[in-house]
Amino acid sequence: MDKRTFIKTGVLSAAGLVVSSMTVKGVTSGILKKSRRRKRTEFIQPKLPYAFNALEPHIDRHTMELHYNMHHASYTQKFNEAAKELGIVEKPIRHILAGVSKYPESIRNNGGGYMNHVLFWNMMSPNGGGSPSGLLLDAINREFGSIEAFKDKFSAAAGTVFGSGWAWLIIKDQRFVITTTQNQDNPLMDIVENQGYPLLCLDVWEHAYYVKNQNRRYDYISAFWNVVNWDFVSRRYAFWQKKAANHA
Ligand SMILES: [Fe+2]
Repeated sequence: MDKRTFIKTGVLSAAGLVVSSMTVKGVTSGILKKSRRRKRTEFIQPKLPYAFNALEPHIDRHTMELHYNMHHASYTQKFNEAAKELGIVEKPIRHILAGVSKYPESIRNNGGGYMNHVLFWNMMSPNGGGSPSGLLLDAINREFGSIEAFKDKFSAAAGTVFGSGWAWLIIKDQRFVITTTQNQDNPLMDIVENQGYPLLCLDVWEHAYYVKNQNRRYDYISAFWNVVNWDFVSRRYAFWQKKAANHA
């Protein structure tokens, strides 16, 4: 495994993006365990899991190029600079975010921007859309009544974020909760009102939709539902359940 693949896999795993038993491009869990002992030298911006135009017509190529190549790349670079200066580049990202109150604003803004976008790219897929199934659908139905009611509530939350921020579905105190954060705050951070484990997120910064939708944020939110990667969200839910069972 080359260095880039190792670091990428480590980042995804630390963020709960990889289920331990699954194989990631030929990387077995056994090798993963061994690799985790190696020290990280920087946070890597993982490769986009699909082509820039793969989400069209819902999310356009130009937006994806700018969003990934400019915005996410910039957060990644600035996060690395700040993390190296503080000597925390070897720490798991989830630990950095969970203790973000003790770090400078640069970690909050750029560490959040780095992690939020790593999650967000995986929340979407050219094969996405539709509805979830199985345990995830059961849990959504229990909490919100139906998938349609959930989407309406999530869309309303995303639509009313004032200025720049994110909408989230999180697990808080064993329950599904819709929440929002300002700027690049992440629900794992110890400074947000609703702390929890992120299952689904939507970027509602203008840079995420202005090229295609201008000021029509609700058009972008509607388009998002056509590309939501429910398989990924389900894997995150399964990962959380496994962790919760181990701590019971
Ligand atoms: Fe963004």
